[in-house]
Amino acid sequence: MITLKNIYKSYKSKPVLTGINLQIESGEFIVLIGPSGCGKTTLLKMINKLVPVDKGDVIIDGVPIKQIVDTKLRRSMGYVVQEGGLFPHMTVAENIGQILKITGTEKKEREARVDELLNMVELPPESYRDLYPSQLSGGQQQRVGVARAFSVNPEIILMDEPFSALDPVTRSELQDEIFRLQKKFSKTIVFVTHDIDEAIKLASRICIMHEGQIVQCDTPENTLKNPADDYVRQFIGRNRLWENPEFIKARDIMKTKPFCISRNRSLFQAVQMMNQNSVDSLLVTEHGKLEGILRLKDIRRIPDYKIPLAKYISTDTISVYEDTDLKKIINHLDDNFSGIIPVVSHENKLLGYITKSGLLAALSKQYEPDEQISYERNGTL
Ligand SMILES: Nc1ncnc2c1ncn2[C@@H]1O[C@H](COP(=O)(O)OP(=O)(O)OP(=O)(O)O)[C@@H](O)[C@H]1O
Ligand SMILES: [Mg+2]
Repeated sequence: MITLKNIYKSYKSKPVLTGINLQIESGEFIVLIGPSGCGKTTLLKMINKLVPVDKGDVIIDGVPIKQIVDTKLRRSMGYVVQEGGLFPHMTVAENIGQILKITGTEKKEREARVDELLNMVELPPESYRDLYPSQLSGGQQQRVGVARAFSVNPEIILMDEPFSALDPVTRSELQDEIFRLQKKFSKTIVFVTHDIDEAIKLASRICIMHEGQIVQCDTPENTLKNPADDYVRQFIGRNRLWENPEFIKARDIMKTKPFCISRNRSLFQAVQMMNQNSVDSLLVTEHGKLEGILRLKDIRRIPDYKIPLAKYISTDTISVYEDTDLKKIINHLDDNFSGIIPVVSHENKLLGYITKSGLLAALSKQYEPDEQISYERNGTL
């Protein structure tokens, strides 16, 4: 766990960081993002003591880093920078194995570890270990940089715009790669970027910085749905939420308080309830759990309304979980959909419902100007 406690930094008399507080849990993928000059690199470099703090503390697993020897601290963390930061006069293997060598790992063991790391970043060791950085593409150099950062199996890896100089395809490949590696080895990663799409793709939490402060630090989903202020709203940009429909869940667009009835009631009572509320279907529930749907069209021709409704319940209804995303909901619908989709918890408790008109209203929100978008949880858009 990394704790940044009330951190201040100025260069000459110019304040660069003014009161940074952040707790990073082990295994988190934190992305620092913000405009040029807002202090991202300065903050990142404070974690490995490349930049000293003026005031405040960086604490790692309960130990203030000012109590740890600089070189020991730096060797215990991976660090990847934009240009790869490889030594041009060393081979790929020497670059990756450098810290292992300094810390006294034997040659045989070191070579085996270098090969393992090259395989991890998908560079076949036989082809790459003896090349020099100048013989590699930008993407390959970054892969070597990532392999080197993993070399001593550190808990924490710091990455400063590691992929920003790469073409979009290579960049996307490396994003997938680092995401996979982070999940597999559950490292704590602090990653700086300028690119909000990269942040959304990778982060467990996105920290948005502005003029030396953190203005919001939250999951990508919450950041998109509930921007803390106008600055964040502007920063993430118009329609970003709609470009990531997996973040829009059934519970965000459902209506609550569906019209429900128990299976023990009669058809007469059901029809009366439909008439009173001007609906053509009722959701049948028992102790709050969804059993099915009763549709007016299925009972219209029944001569005797005194009989129990149980026999006429349709159980073929498609329901969705509260956390089913918009993409899946739309895929669920067939062209003839005209009724309602019940929304249930994973325990099958009925929570609400989605209508076609509600869905269309939600979808049309993306065409409204930015300032009119208001997103309410547990309500309609
Ligand atoms: N060594 C230094 N001496 C003087 N000023 C510095 C130094 N390092 C950084 N600064 C200033 O501190 C501010 C923050 O710099 P920093 O490199 O942390 O920004 P950043 O958010 O990483 O920007 P970018 O996105 O361009 O990399 C800038 O105004 C920069 O000019
Ligand atoms: Mg920077």
